[in-house]
Formats: sequence, C-alpha cells, structure tokens
Amino acid sequence: MLSEILLPTFNHVYDTGVAIPRCVTRNKLTRMGRRTLLKSTAALFGVGGVLASASRPARADHYDSKIHYEPQLDNENLAQLSVQSHKILGDGVKLDFGDHDGYVRLFADDFARVSVTEPGQAEYESPGVANGLDEWDAPTFGAESTSERIVLETESITVDISKDPFGVKFLDADGNVVNEDYLDKGTSGYEGDKPYVYKKTDENEAFYGFGEQPDMGFNQRGEKLENWNTDQYGYGPDSDYVYSSVPFFVGLKDTGAYGIFFDDPYHSVFHMADESDDYYYFLADGGQLTYYFAYGPEVSTVLDRYTDLTGKIDLPPKWGIGLHQSKWEYTAQEIVDTAETYREKEIPLDAMHFDIDYMGGEYNAFTWDPDYYDALQTLNADLPELHSVAVNDPGVGKTTEVNGEPYETYLEGTENDYWVKDADGDTFTAEVWPPEAVWPDFSREEVRSWYASQHDALFDAGIDGVKNDMGEPAVFQKNEKYDWTMPHDNIHGVGEDTIRHEAYHNLYGLDYARAAYEAFEQYKPEKRPFLLNRNLFAGGQRYAAIWTGDNVSSWEHLRLSIPMMLNLSVSGMPFVGCDIGGFVNRPSPELFARWMQAGAFNPYCRNHTDSHRKDELNGPRNQHPWTFGEEVEAISKQYIELRYRLLPYLYNAFKTASETGKPVQQPLMFQFQDDEQTVDIDDQFMFGDDMLVAPVLEKGATTREVYLPEDEQWADFWTDAVHEGGQTITVDAPLDRVPLFVKMDSIIPMREIQQYTGEKPLTMLTLDTYLDEEVSYSFYEDDGETRAHENGAYNVTEFTVSTNPGGVVTFEREHEEQNYDDSELSSYLLKLNRSEAPQKVQAAAAKYTAVDDAETVTETSETYTHSEEQNAVLVHIPADEDNAVRLFFNGQGRGPQGQGKGRGH
Ligand code: GLC
Repeated sequence: MLSEILLPTFNHVYDTGVAIPRCVTRNKLTRMGRRTLLKSTAALFGVGGVLASASRPARADHYDSKIHYEPQLDNENLAQLSVQSHKILGDGVKLDFGDHDGYVRLFADDFARVSVTEPGQAEYESPGVANGLDEWDAPTFGAESTSERIVLETESITVDISKDPFGVKFLDADGNVVNEDYLDKGTSGYEGDKPYVYKKTDENEAFYGFGEQPDMGFNQRGEKLENWNTDQYGYGPDSDYVYSSVPFFVGLKDTGAYGIFFDDPYHSVFHMADESDDYYYFLADGGQLTYYFAYGPEVSTVLDRYTDLTGKIDLPPKWGIGLHQSKWEYTAQEIVDTAETYREKEIPLDAMHFDIDYMGGEYNAFTWDPDYYDALQTLNADLPELHSVAVNDPGVGKTTEVNGEPYETYLEGTENDYWVKDADGDTFTAEVWPPEAVWPDFSREEVRSWYASQHDALFDAGIDGVKNDMGEPAVFQKNEKYDWTMPHDNIHGVGEDTIRHEAYHNLYGLDYARAAYEAFEQYKPEKRPFLLNRNLFAGGQRYAAIWTGDNVSSWEHLRLSIPMMLNLSVSGMPFVGCDIGGFVNRPSPELFARWMQAGAFNPYCRNHTDSHRKDELNGPRNQHPWTFGEEVEAISKQYIELRYRLLPYLYNAFKTASETGKPVQQPLMFQFQDDEQTVDIDDQFMFGDDMLVAPVLEKGATTREVYLPEDEQWADFWTDAVHEGGQTITVDAPLDRVPLFVKMDSIIPMREIQQYTGEKPLTMLTLDTYLDEEVSYSFYEDDGETRAHENGAYNVTEFTVSTNPGGVVTFEREHEEQNYDDSELSSYLLKLNRSEAPQKVQAAAAKYTAVDDAETVTETSETYTHSEEQNAVLVHIPADEDNAVRLFFNGQGRGPQGQGKGRGH
C-alpha cells in the first residue's frame, strides 16, 4: 500500500528567499539579472515571485488555439508522367519525362533513390543527409530496357520502372514485389507545387517510424502522420504534430521490411492506408520529390542503411546515460540542495539541469543570473563529479544591455546581421521567453560558427552539457498559416541561398543542434558532447539526443511515451527519452513509481517537471524520488540502482547503436519481425538485445500480461522461472516490480552500484549468464568520456559460455581488441543462473577453491560457490586467465531447472 502523503500546497512554499544582486565581474557573467532584482522585489512585496512570465498569458492558453493548416492533394490534378527517353548512368538511370527529369540511383545493392526534378535541376539532398551520393560507391548492376520498362538489377534488388505510366517497383532477389507505386490515381509527381507518391499496400502491411508522433499505437497503419515542428505544451494523442520531424518509415510485410525516407523538409503528410487498405501516400507542401528506398528484409538492415545515409549517434559520454534531474524554476539553492539530497540518500545521479532561470535579465541566452552562477560554482566545488546541463533557447533578447553590461550576443549578432528576416527583409522580432527577441539564422554556416562561439559563457562557467529547447522555432505569436512559430514567409539565408521559412522551418532545429555541436568541437574537443534537443529533423541523431517535450503527468502519457519513443528509435534516433514523471502537472505517488520503473529503461533517463507556479498544478512543488513518500522513494532508488548496475550492458547497447543504428530500446518487432504477434505490441520493449521490459502502465494494476516472443525461452529476472516463447502470460506486478525477462542464452554484463558513473573503476565485471546451450557476448570498454576511442583506444573481450555433453559448462574469454590501456578490469564474476552446485571448477589443471558464500567469492580470485539464495553458481575468474574454465556437474548435465526460487535481484 502506498503511504498517505501530505502534499504541500505549492503556492505556500514558493521560494521567498531574497536574492540581493551582486556584481559579478567575470567576462560574460557580468550580466547580472534584472530578473533577480525583480524577483527579490517581488518576494519582498509578497507577490509570489511571478516575474517576466506573469505578463504573458498562461502557456496552456497559448497552446489551445493553434491553427491547423494541412497540405492536401487535389485528386483531379495528379500527375500523369511517362518516360519519353532514358539514359543508363554509372549508378542508375536518368529519365526524361518531357516536362520533368527523373533519376533512379543505386547507392548500394539494397539502397536506391528516386527523384523527379525540374528539367536540369540537381537532385535535392537536405541537411538531414550526412553521407550523400558522393559518399557511396555504386553497386554492380545490370540494366535492360524494352519499349515498356527499364529494369535495373543488383545482387539484392530489382528496380522495375514502367515507362507509361511511370511507375517504380522494387523486387527482392526471388522476384517478390517488396514495394510498388499505386497507379490507379495517376503517377507519382507533383500536384501543383506539392511532390507526392502513391504506393500499393495490403492489409497485412504494418508501418513504423515517422519520427516523433504522439500516438497511443506503435503500428501506424490506418493513421495520418504529419511533420511540422511545433512547440506543443501538454500535447496528446490528438495533436497533429509535435516538436521534431523525421519523414522516414519502415514498412513490414510478408516479404520482409523496407524503409522509405522522403527527404523533404517542408510540412509533410503521410496517409498510411487511412483512406483505403489498397494504398498509402505521402506528400509535402513544397520541395522536390526525392525519396530513398532501403530493402531489408530485416528491419535492422533497413535502419543500418537509413543511418548510413543520415548518420549514427555519437557514442555518448557515460554520464549522459546516468540519471539526470531537472525542473523548471528550481531556485538556485534548490539545485544544490537537490543534488546533495541525492547523495545523502545514496540515490545515483549524474547530472543536474539548469533551466532558463539561470539566464540573466529576461531570459537572455549566454548570460547568467548571479545566484545560479554561484550555485553552479558551489556544485562544482562540493560535488565535482556531478555534471551540469544548461538549457538554451535560440530566441536572443533584443536588448543591448543585461545586468548593466553590454549584451554581446545581441550586439555582435546585430552588427553582423545574423538574424532571421521577415518577408520585407527586416530583422524579425517577436516574443518568446524574452519579451522581444531575434533569432539566429542557423541556415548560414558563419552564423552557426558564431553562435557556437557564444557557448564559452556556459562552458567557462562550468557547464558540461546543453539542452537546446524552443528550436521549432517556438515564437509566442499567432500567424496566418501556423501559430506559435515564425510567419511562413520569413526569410533565411543570403544571396542565392535565400529560402522562405516554410521551406526551412523543419530544419531550423537541426541546424540549431549543429551549431551547438560545433560549440563542443570548439571548446571541448577532447570530450564527447552531451547535447539534448527538443527539435530535430531526420539526421539530428548525429548531433543530439532527443526528448519528447512537454508531456503530462498522466497514465495516458506514461502509456503513450512507449510507442512514441519506440517510433523515434525506429526513425534512427536511439538516444531518446521522455520527461519521467511527466512534465505538465504532477503525478500521483503510484504514477511516479510506475514511471520511474519504466523510465529507468529509457535510453535517455531524466526526471524533469514544470514550474510549480502553474495555475493548473495539482500536486507538490517538486517531483523528486523522495517527494512521494518512503515507499516510492525506495522503489525509485531500486530501479535507478538497477540501471546503474546494468551500465556495462547499457553502454554496450549504445556502442552498437552508434555503429549500426540499432535501437537501445527496441520494439519487439525489431528482433522478432517474423513473429506476427509482435507487430502491434506497443506496451513492451526490449532493453538492449536480451532484456524484455513490460512496464505497468495502468493505475491500480498489480499483475500484467506479457507477450514472450516465439522461438526463445525467457527467464523471469525476479524469480528465475523459465517460460517458453510464443505465449502471453500473466505475471505479478506489485508496485515494486516491473515485469522483466531475460532471453535464455544470454549474458548480461553488470557491475557494482555507483553513485555516479565513474565513481569507481570497473574492476570486476559480473557476467549474469542465462545458459541453455551456448552464448557469446562481445564486451566493449573504453574511458567513457573522451574521443580517444575514435582512434582505437578501446578493448573488446569476447566471452563464451557453453554446456557440453557430460555436464560440463565451459567459460572462455578472448581479447579481440586491447588498445585501452587504462582498463582496471581485473576479474570476472561468472554468475551462472538457475544452476545446481558444481562438483568442481578448474582452469586447465588448476582447481578453483570452493567457498561458503558469495562475498568470499567476490573477494577472492579463483574461488566459487553455489548460492541457494541466488539459485546460481558464482565463479571468480581472473581477467588474465587464459585457459578455459570448466564447471563439472555430476556427469548428468545441468539443463534448465523448473520454476526457480526468488533470487533477491
Ligand atoms: C519548455 C521545455 C521544458 C522547459 C521549459 C522552460 O517548455 O520543453 O523542458 O523546462 O521550456 O525552459
């Protein structure tokens, strides 16, 4: 039972500490906050400290009233393209449609691009593309043509192009149609200025991806999805679009998986069989018709290809994947107190966030309020291991002075004419957090570099990471076509590169991330960047992690966070998280406990919440693990600790993601695409390759149904019981338990708990092993912090555990790479789960010593024990043991046991 908690009424506990403005003389830190002064005065006069934002309408009002403009096709006016002549190229074919040109290019034997351009116009590659055409070697292919068709054939796919009407069909090597244009309404092409493509589908086809979509379901068949980056405070399943745009999806059908990336940053719309079960189509409000086709048949191959094109994530610094704590409108003192409370309560924590409150004046980017500056110094002195992340916003206050000092960011940007222009060519000025702001034109390279250079104000103060917010770009005003952003006819770029805002809108956040990424290159070239963006386009993963914006503390939002993050993961963005506990409003104790349990398995793990000064707020001032009573605190701690114990496993999953685009948090269909049951599962996921998580998403639930994919056996992480796959089981899920399963034949590398990543060197690696027949695991290790691994400074060790006839279990390890000299890893704790006691353990002729308890094994090399409590054998193996280590079991084999005992995980 949850303990009864008395929740303080937030407006009685609002900080009334009077901050007396002081002069801070450091460069760029001299911009003492006018806001600080106002705050002090407000507090003195007892007006609740409502400052700059008090003059604005409540944000919720802003967001209720958005215009919804949606580009649509006039079906009477679709194109009727036909190929009049063609020319085979070194990498495909050029098509002549008379009034348009067309290209089908082969990037690889399973990857192609189709474009329809104005005559003579180059094929478009958006800034989302990291490796464009020039970076690829054309595959070997055969080309044939008849009066009716042109056929390009590689080792993996055939592209069959019909000439009249123009249509493209992709077939696999066996001649099965994987994807095909739907020609009943016309051909693909342009309706007016709108590029579009119609494709055939059948009712068995499922669709995933589409970037950031706030839907309750994961499979998007039957849905309409839009891409228009929008600041959607408190969005919900009915919101048409949210913060980021990725016009990419994966189709999954009998022939396997394929992917389509519609590389058009304009407002795009995907109708995924929402009108008919026979076709789907996608269109955009302008731009060029260019899309990429990636053939699987595995979903993983499609994602690998897509991220070869748009980029993979950087391997994050380890502290970036520890727990982060954040809140809008913490007082400066609260930031310090919160961090210290984490340490006192021994709940692991890696980073505190500084929300916009730290900025000087009225939210002026790259300036400091002295109180927050001091708080940062206190934190860095008292808890030097703790990392700090500063929020940044692109709207630069239109003010020449902050805290009585020249506001260099505004002055320099103005002097160099770096701001976005309105339709008349004048600097665009509007309200965002500053009452009057101007926006850097990130489409220009020199503006990005200059903006990057401003970050010394953050880094010199001691900030480690950056959270880029409001880059949709969010603007607090209504417009003719889209609300709460810039007018669609604003101007970006100079000279020949000038484009209207509607063409660039969805790229603004990407280039904003690119500029901030450059700041890390300028100021912290040795360190791996930690950058978090709310607003991205396809390819943004190569600069930043992403979080799903201003969600709500509700059961519905906990539920929808899962498919939302999974679809982002399938959109090439594996470094994804949601605000744990919900941003808008406050969760109940039960909801918080359930969210913390689920969120411990988010790739990016941050507890963040809205200001306590919201009228609609119903709950406590803060949203800390200890806010909701002892039971919830204990549960939160348990799951945060589990995440920290799993750090080696998690970090390895990130390493794989950085190499192949494989999600860290995988939808079940990612690994089990042949199991039809997984197609629609949107309330469970795989955490890495081997752990299945089924979070409890319903109020009051104490059991939960879990589907276990077929052709595998699954061990319950808590009880050790093994279940056959291909069935749905009901498991106990009291408040302190999240259903968690491990695939048999897997090794989960774990370690001791730390209060922050890097607190203690990794000296002993636990190999939590679930053995059926044989399992191998490649363990990657590096310094977790610098870019040295990019030059080879890492180790890879392969572990194999196998069971042989006659009841012998063999452990072997092989060093595959040994270039990370600072590794302190000196031993492995092999934990063979679900095991009886072995008769003996030995490496070659050397016998390991049997001891009585787990603690002695942990402390003493070449020992082992059988733990009744853990239902496991534990063996302490020195890392320099070159011989195979054998566990002898009575000559009768030690196959899986039946229902196991609790192991006190
Ligand atoms: C936006 C962000 C949120 C942040 C707030 C104040 O709403 O999404 O995370 O706390 O702005 O900066």
